[in-house]
Amino acid sequence: KKAKTGKLRKTLRWTWRLTYLSLLGTVAYVSYEVWDSRNPDNQVIPDPSKKTLVILGTGWGTVALLKKLDTENYNVVVISPRNYFLFTPLLPSCTTGTIEHRSIMEPIRTILQQKKAAVKYYEAEATKVDSERKVIRIKDESEIKGTVSETEVPYDMLVIGVGAENATFGIPGVRENGCFLKEIGDAQQIRKKIMDCVETAAFKDQDPEEINRLLHMVVVGGGPTGVEFAGELQDFFEQDIKRLIPDISDRFKVTLIEALPNVLPSFSKQLIDYTESTFKEEKIDILTKTMVKKVTDKAVEAEASKPDGSKERITLPYGLLVWATGNAVRPIVKDLMTNISAQKDSRRGLAVNEYLVVQGTRDIWAVGDCAVAGYAPTAQVASQEGAFLAKLFNNMAKTEALEDQIRDLSSTLNLKPGNAADIARQIEDYERQLRRVKDIKPFHYSHQGSLAYIGSEKAVADIAWFNGNVASGGTWTYLFWRSAYLSMCFSTRNRLLVLNDWAKSKIFGRDVSRE
Ligand code: FAD
Ligand code: NAI
Repeated sequence: KKAKTGKLRKTLRWTWRLTYLSLLGTVAYVSYEVWDSRNPDNQVIPDPSKKTLVILGTGWGTVALLKKLDTENYNVVVISPRNYFLFTPLLPSCTTGTIEHRSIMEPIRTILQQKKAAVKYYEAEATKVDSERKVIRIKDESEIKGTVSETEVPYDMLVIGVGAENATFGIPGVRENGCFLKEIGDAQQIRKKIMDCVETAAFKDQDPEEINRLLHMVVVGGGPTGVEFAGELQDFFEQDIKRLIPDISDRFKVTLIEALPNVLPSFSKQLIDYTESTFKEEKIDILTKTMVKKVTDKAVEAEASKPDGSKERITLPYGLLVWATGNAVRPIVKDLMTNISAQKDSRRGLAVNEYLVVQGTRDIWAVGDCAVAGYAPTAQVASQEGAFLAKLFNNMAKTEALEDQIRDLSSTLNLKPGNAADIARQIEDYERQLRRVKDIKPFHYSHQGSLAYIGSEKAVADIAWFNGNVASGGTWTYLFWRSAYLSMCFSTRNRLLVLNDWAKSKIFGRDVSRE
């Protein structure tokens, strides 16, 4: 018995030591990261004789490019109306206050400050790409404007990473009455509207029919955005609203409308079934094979396909409508596509080749949701494309430098016959390096898997595993989802803020005040 107790003590002692050491390691790592981000090196001033590389957008694709790009090789100019990077996977959590919106934003100025050579940033929308004259027309669309709010920026090389806008398919009433979920402003608007609906439903002597309408939250589109939002909304209601305003709790209802026969079409069958059964348990109504045709200020009109093939017109009164039916092409991209004959058959964005060069152009590349490279429009694809371009541009700069050196050395060969052998050896060495640098393979996307939160602390995951796929759903997957997204957050600051928000909403409940 004594030996056993001794063994246990020893194990406990070691466990404690290891925990202590890993805690110490984490604190040291976080402290270093914070110190490093607060004390960047002095930046090199860009050399004006170098090529100007203009980057449009501050999203997943372009920020991945900026992160890995050696900015000393080019005069880099970033143009975007959004002066921050947005970590979209956690955006649905901002609609209910599980996470505060600033926790998933990283200022572009902070990101650029970490680069070796200074990068110019203009907060503006690019309105036109003139590929003939190699200039971009830009416009300051912010509230405060100076005497100059529209101008042109010349480029030698251009990267378009402007993402996509919300698809509405021209369905009447969507833009006027629905909320989207793509940007921070959308999440803030939804958060306000949820509470407005709830407080209006709780208004003295409110009509019972009106209470039902106000508390009916309709989500259109059963892709990952719609599913994650519906899950977050039901959580908010079950965990907070019900407790704070119990008198209306039995009237709250979330309905998810999807035109296809099932939600989450890009996930495996097993996870689709799991999501649908979890939604049933959570009391989220799913209307599949139902296509929304019209939206008014208080109701959604849809056409449901019945099992016998007949169609039925249904009207659903709503308090909040969230429209999540995927992506559409942005005007600047559409405009460029109409001016390039090689793009005339492309519908969903700029068709690019295997090096992400926009077909029919030279010196223009496209990444992310605005590019059609044969992959789904996801953050994962966009960031891999951005990282690929960084490598490509770094290599292009190295190639040019090596070619210059070879040219210079070759020209001295005849002038210094005594050193000819040394110079030839040096040229050979540079040529060897050049072959290595030039040998860059085309872009290849490596799918790591798909993750989605489905509410009540459950998530689904299709993870790529060797050459196969592992599908899992439930509470463990939810913990995996949390840790995966926490580790993917842009910075240590974001990670700490998100952790803090999760703890805060768990301990004190979500903040239901309507700003
Ligand atoms: P974005 O990240 O959208 O960035 C576009 C940038 O271009 C922005 O900075 C914008 O301001 C700027 N811009 C726009 N117009 C102009 C203009 N005219 N001139 C200059 N700049 C302009 N994907 C995943 O893989 N996993 C997920 O979990 C996931 N969750 C998501 C959750 C939500 C709610 C949403 C909406 C999307 C999610 N996605 C997810 C998809 C992912 O966010 C997109 O695929 C990704 O953002 C695409 O990156 P991008 O760089 O092409 O565009
Ligand atoms: P989506 O394109 O994936 O899904 C939109 C859904 O809306 C489709 O299933 C479509 O059938 C449906 N729809 C279209 N019109 C309709 C109508 N009139 N009535 C009813 N239903 C209609 O769009 P989503 O979810 O916005 O995603 C966009 C991209 O971002 C996708 O590539 C997605 O994979 C990615 N994303 C990934 C996430 C994740 O991995 N967790 C989270 C959110 C987005």
